[in-house]
Amino acid sequence: MPLIRIKKPWEIPEREITPENLYLNRRRFMKNLIGAGFSVTALSTLIGCRNNSKTAPTSRAVTLISTNKFITNPNFSQVDRPITDEALATKYNNFYEFGGGKSIWQAAQALPTENWKVEVAGLVKNPRIYDVDELHKKFPLEERIYRFRCVEAWAMVVPWLGFPMKLLMADVEPTSKAKYVRFTSFYNPEITKGPGFWATGYPWPYTEGLTIDEMANELAFFAVGMYGKSLPKQNGAPLREVIPWKYGFKGAKSIVKIDFVESRPATFWNTLIPNEYGFEANVNPDVPHPRWSQATERVLSEGASWSWEKRPTLLYNGYGEYVANLYP
Ligand code: MTE
Repeated sequence: MPLIRIKKPWEIPEREITPENLYLNRRRFMKNLIGAGFSVTALSTLIGCRNNSKTAPTSRAVTLISTNKFITNPNFSQVDRPITDEALATKYNNFYEFGGGKSIWQAAQALPTENWKVEVAGLVKNPRIYDVDELHKKFPLEERIYRFRCVEAWAMVVPWLGFPMKLLMADVEPTSKAKYVRFTSFYNPEITKGPGFWATGYPWPYTEGLTIDEMANELAFFAVGMYGKSLPKQNGAPLREVIPWKYGFKGAKSIVKIDFVESRPATFWNTLIPNEYGFEANVNPDVPHPRWSQATERVLSEGASWSWEKRPTLLYNGYGEYVANLYP
């Protein structure tokens, strides 16, 4: 019997990667300093025009001065609300390794991001240890403007910079036995020093997981930057997951390991409080958190962290056209 090889969703032919000159024509390409290493963030310069209106859709034409080129993916170049002010998105964080409050950005500067390696292991044909700089060179970087919804019922809009997860899948080639993927964050209590006595017994390191099909979805993204610059440490440098149709806790920060596995992996919040934080954790206005409603969200406003605009929560955070088929 002849063997018919069915292409997996993450097996992307070279021709589908948009040629760079298309973007050069549109003058939408950007250059950044990411390829020069994570210590140079401060040198990145953002010269752009951003639509700050509260009602108009957000779109940007941005030029960055740097060594790497990247483009804004035209499919994800705007959403129905303005981009969150960078100062807010980088100063209002959840990163429990560095503390239990939102103001951990200074503590997070202790994260050692130099010579960062990411190990990909488990049920793959090509297990790999990537150097983060290698990831930047290997996979074309693009910008995507995504809505970002935390389970705590606040929301932002973030211009992420990175590459689709399916590109990495194509490189390591999960075997047919691989049904899930587990992401493990950096953890070293000597360095992270958080969140303190009240969290003794937390199931560190922080882990998260997806099904293989979720990881292969067009939206699933690895971010290495935001706002046209390298990821700040407090936002999960040098590599984090961005899964825009799920609550924010699904996006593990500062990833050191990616394991392809057969059964559903234990994950940080789901292990800790399973009745409050499910494994699937899709944004859904009709499924309340046991302690609060998810029907509405407070959108973090540009320039004023305490003036929250209330909006109805969107099913799958508004990304149903991409992901509803994953959940028949
Ligand atoms: N990843 C790690 N390693 N540790 C964390 O505490 N918090 C999660 C997620 N990833 C968290 C994490 C939660 S609850 C949210 S809402 C987002 O990160 C917050 O991302 P931000 O700080 O970039 O907004």
